[in-house]
Amino acid sequence: MSIVGARPNMMKVAPLLAEFRRHEDIEPVLVHTGQHYDYSMSQVFFDQLGVPPPDYNLDVGSGTHYAQTAEIMRKFGELVQQDRPDMVVVAGDVNSTIACALVAAKERIPVAHLEAGLRSFDRNMPEEINRVLTDALADLLFTTEESANRNLANEGVDPGKVFFVGNLMIDSLVNALKVARQSCLRSELGLEGKPYAVLTLHRPSNVDNEDQLRRTLDAIGKLAQHIPVVFPAHPRTARNIEAAGLTAMKTWNGGSISNSGLWMMPPASYLDFLDLTQQAAMVITDSGGVQEETTFLGVPCLTYRETTERPVTVSMGTNLVVGCDPENLLRHALEVLGQARDGHTGSTPARPPLWDGRTSSRIVQILTEVWEADLACAGEREPR
Ligand code: UD1
Repeated sequence: MSIVGARPNMMKVAPLLAEFRRHEDIEPVLVHTGQHYDYSMSQVFFDQLGVPPPDYNLDVGSGTHYAQTAEIMRKFGELVQQDRPDMVVVAGDVNSTIACALVAAKERIPVAHLEAGLRSFDRNMPEEINRVLTDALADLLFTTEESANRNLANEGVDPGKVFFVGNLMIDSLVNALKVARQSCLRSELGLEGKPYAVLTLHRPSNVDNEDQLRRTLDAIGKLAQHIPVVFPAHPRTARNIEAAGLTAMKTWNGGSISNSGLWMMPPASYLDFLDLTQQAAMVITDSGGVQEETTFLGVPCLTYRETTERPVTVSMGTNLVVGCDPENLLRHALEVLGQARDGHTGSTPARPPLWDGRTSSRIVQILTEVWEADLACAGEREPR
């Protein structure tokens, strides 16, 4: 039983579900918690990643972290008591991840955690708390990079439970790249063949504080005097911008944009976002997954956070963690722009180990071996 809840879960679970479907002895069941529910945050990812409708939708919707987590637990608890899956598979670090892992662990159902072991070491991020707790509960921990293996070893996790398999998001990306090139968004924006930057912002630390949000958008507005900045805004961010009456940006209502300006638009679909990212002169983000996608694609990425839980994107990739000071962000962004103008980009995309599009088949191979070993043990235990 695989769980999706929030947008970044979809790209991790989609390739695994496809691989499950290729094995006739595995019966995949998909549960959507409903943490994300807008078409542009949820259904469009099902459509574009070829994921069939979920078998169950818990429809929990928004709320405080506590109400949301509790509601997922309550509804998922009822479901697993009735359905008794052989394993629960959770992904990443969102509230749906910890909520379902906790229920499964209490029901004594084995938990597999996709993207285990990542650590920002910053407990101000709700995701960090979700990661640490989910890993403590998981029976099988699938990791994306070496730092995760080290973090889990340092926390005393039995290395026999940890499997370094690579990155499922990159499986999705590799599968989608050809189709993404057919996206029409860049041509609608009039950006084909032109330099532009992409911005995504949704961390509470960046968007829930009005002063920080205003100063950030002012700084990016200054960058946007030199290069158009395309800003597909998360619903949380869009709402806060509207509530604060911020005017540093223009709203895109379709049609070509001019050669400068900060342009806010609704959340982009998976394929549109991939295509936008791949052709961008730079990406500015506080997302986790975008740091990985830009690394794989060789696109300069400025991470607008104090830390990253994905250090391989810095040591091997194109990522620079610039902190949360708007002036500093602007300085770095202008530097990247200068380098692009001098023709100094075009670094060969780095491919961290096992980010090769074949992670889902490695995971299913491991799961099959674990199940076979379990069945063999059960056979030995059988009374004669
Ligand atoms: C969640 C994850 C975060 C992930 C992000 C990706 C947690 C703790 N955080 O943050 O790690 O990077 O998803 O997007 O799980 N909203 C809508 N429509 C939607 C979904 C959300 O309007 O479809 C609004 C809600 O009203 C809510 C706000 O956005 O107030 C935040 O949603 P929530 O799921 O609580 O957290 P995210 O900020 O999306």
